[in-house]
Amino acid sequence: MLDRRFAIAPMMDWTDRHCRMFHRLMTRRARLYTEMLTTGAVIHGDRARLLGFDAFEHPVALQLGGSDPRDLAIAAKIGEDFGYDEINLNVGCPSDRVKDGRFGACLMAEPALVAEGVAAMKRAVGIAVTVKCRIGIDDQDPETALDELARGVVAAGADALIVHARKAWLNGLSPKENRDIPPLDYHRVYRLKAAMPDVPIIINGGIAGITEAKPHLGHVDGVMLGRAAYQEPWRLLSADPELFGEPAPHATMKDVFAAMTPYIESELAQGTRLHSITRHFVGAFFGVPGARAFRRRLAENGVKPDAGVDVLREAIALVEDRAAAPIAA
Ligand SMILES: Cc1cc2nc3c(=O)[nH]c(=O)nc-3n(C[C@H](O)[C@H](O)[C@H](O)COP(=O)(O)O)c2cc1C
Repeated sequence: MLDRRFAIAPMMDWTDRHCRMFHRLMTRRARLYTEMLTTGAVIHGDRARLLGFDAFEHPVALQLGGSDPRDLAIAAKIGEDFGYDEINLNVGCPSDRVKDGRFGACLMAEPALVAEGVAAMKRAVGIAVTVKCRIGIDDQDPETALDELARGVVAAGADALIVHARKAWLNGLSPKENRDIPPLDYHRVYRLKAAMPDVPIIINGGIAGITEAKPHLGHVDGVMLGRAAYQEPWRLLSADPELFGEPAPHATMKDVFAAMTPYIESELAQGTRLHSITRHFVGAFFGVPGARAFRRRLAENGVKPDAGVDVLREAIALVEDRAAAPIAA
């Protein structure tokens, strides 16, 4: 069984290819996920811009939003041809835009359609097809709703399920509120694993760091971190040591940035703005003296159209020289 112990969540506007490069420099073992792309964007959009990624990012999964099985199959095949390692279907995102398009969390109410979509993708590609869902929506009973969805997609060939361990309430809450207000129910996800011992089940939602991730691995196959990974990326430096017993790719955040510099220089040479990359670094030095000056320098000088990698170097020089933050925390 593929090792799915650790993953970093798909996050729109956050987990773009620059962010994923940064994360990959802190953990070799995390499975990375793209931002959600709709099937329409994948099929009709600028594919090189939307789907392009660096080979260094592997293993990386493309997350799709959609519900039409034919479109899902076409988009999944395009993703496979681009070199993605996995196609993940979004059945958890509650935003209005997504609701109107009949995909995301509202599909929890249409398990047969989701299963059809998974079956169509499985016929179209040879790579893993997975589903990311909630434990239920609105007034659904999570005991039946999650089982029904899971049974359907597993019978259709899904290779793993990622469960955000709370409901989505589609009427009344903003997407942000839907990530915090509906209560977490990790035990519901543990029960799913117990009922389907042969199916890889990954738990997600409200997990604060690597130390907090570990106990879940006694119940399920993997843990997916979202906001903690993005907002406090220094935590990722302890993922490989703590979860896999392997050394971290780099000892300190400063080493991570040194390793990232050739990538940044190459991106700048191709016309990427520095800020598109450095915007992901805001939390890098959390807790280290100089972190605020680092952020301020990037905010003030990194946004200039001609900003070069020197701005990043100067910002890093403002941070005290020691191992970044309380890595084992
Ligand atoms: C800014 C942001 C964007 C998100 N975009 C997506 C998305 O595109 N697809 C998706 O399945 N979930 C998305 N999510 C939800 C996360 O993948 C994850 O399920 C959620 O944040 C709970 O995990 P956490 O508590 O570890 O952050 C997003 C979350 C955030 C904070």
